[in-house]
Amino acid sequence: MPRLAIRGPIFHITDNPAENPSAWSYLPNGAMIIQDGIIEQVMPDDELTPDMEKSFPVFDYENCLICPGFVDAHIHYTQTRIIASSAPGLLEWLEKHTFPEECKFSDPEYASLVAVEFFNELVRNGTTSALVYPTVHRESVDSFFEESVQRGMRMVAGKVLMNRNAPPELCDGEDLGYQSTSEQIRKWNGTNRQSYAVTPRFAGTSTHDQLKICGKLIAEFPDVLLHTHLSETKSEIDWTLGLFPEFKDYLGVYEGFGLVTDRSLFAHCIHLSSSECERLANAGATAILCPTSNLFLGSGIVQPIHLSSYGVPTALGTDVGGGTSFSMLETMQELYKVGCLNGELLSSLELFYLATLGGARALHIDRYVGNFEPGKEADFVVLDTWNNPLMKNRLEQLNSIEDELFAYAIMGRAQNVQETWSMGKRIYARDSLPMDYLVH
Ligand code: GUN
Ligand code: ZN
Repeated sequence: MPRLAIRGPIFHITDNPAENPSAWSYLPNGAMIIQDGIIEQVMPDDELTPDMEKSFPVFDYENCLICPGFVDAHIHYTQTRIIASSAPGLLEWLEKHTFPEECKFSDPEYASLVAVEFFNELVRNGTTSALVYPTVHRESVDSFFEESVQRGMRMVAGKVLMNRNAPPELCDGEDLGYQSTSEQIRKWNGTNRQSYAVTPRFAGTSTHDQLKICGKLIAEFPDVLLHTHLSETKSEIDWTLGLFPEFKDYLGVYEGFGLVTDRSLFAHCIHLSSSECERLANAGATAILCPTSNLFLGSGIVQPIHLSSYGVPTALGTDVGGGTSFSMLETMQELYKVGCLNGELLSSLELFYLATLGGARALHIDRYVGNFEPGKEADFVVLDTWNNPLMKNRLEQLNSIEDELFAYAIMGRAQNVQETWSMGKRIYARDSLPMDYLVH
């Protein structure tokens, strides 16, 4: 792959702004040099010599904002086609819409078709990495990773494990999912930018024996992640504690099977006690905030700053199809508003951190992506104001990058993503269809 340069306003974050408020960099006239998909350096563009400009292509993005590709820390690809399905609450929504749709993913052709639609949406929204739920079917996992490899994107996923309280077609058989999960870990983990997460759907759809198997899998394969849901709604909590009466709280169920470590990620974490927050923090486990889903399903109001005050690492997820948008910009908006309802005011730096480096850290892929440090993979997004005069005027009035980021977070959506690049390759261009990756 040739060397190339990206020129324009370049922004990235190098540490958690809540702990290290000056750990970010903005070059209004910057240049990023990329060799073989890897970032060589970011520098002021006047350091680009005429010789350099002659020897490799320079892509110009004046009046745009170049920032790291978004990391969606919790999303269900198999719910792409049921986004915007109404129900009075989570458990009803699962029964009525989700489980019937997920049954279709035993068919590899259907799984591959939806995987293409899913990845098209990701890149259209500037998301370059995600932690993803397929279904219980191994076909759904293979279709997902095959599509990801084809596009050269860095993704994390794992076969969903469930064996009760769901239709029989969605339940693992006698080996409780052990065999297919271990085979898939060997097949996909650490290959071609893919990594694996052991993924029990949530405690209520697994028996004690299956949660034991999850513990065995993460002990046998210490570099995989553990990904599940925790404390999303009050009725889910009551139901779960009825199924596992020997545990004093919801987190205790996962702890009881050795599933709470610094490689564990729990979506939602809305209704946690202070003891549960302390225990998550002590374990170094991540809470994934999913505000659009929480509002849509009426699940509750998550408290991002409250969780952080205990030292719980956080990341941001769309949770499509419970979530209502693939856009991490729109998800930042909703998180900001939800924070306001708690009296918590998130800064634009905190919002962008959650959607970039914070997400990459949570997924344990920050060695590779999340910002523009030299040696990392060149995954980035080019944002602009599109043809939105309100946004253009607003941005022109602002003279700090924090305020500009805030306007992008509060007003932004898919249309503001002009281009998405993955490992130094343009994989989406809003204004120049057809796209070379759409060859299915
Ligand atoms: N809890 C268990 N399964 C799901 C799911 O598919 N979506 C959401 N939002 N919560 C869940
Ligand atoms: Zn979810």
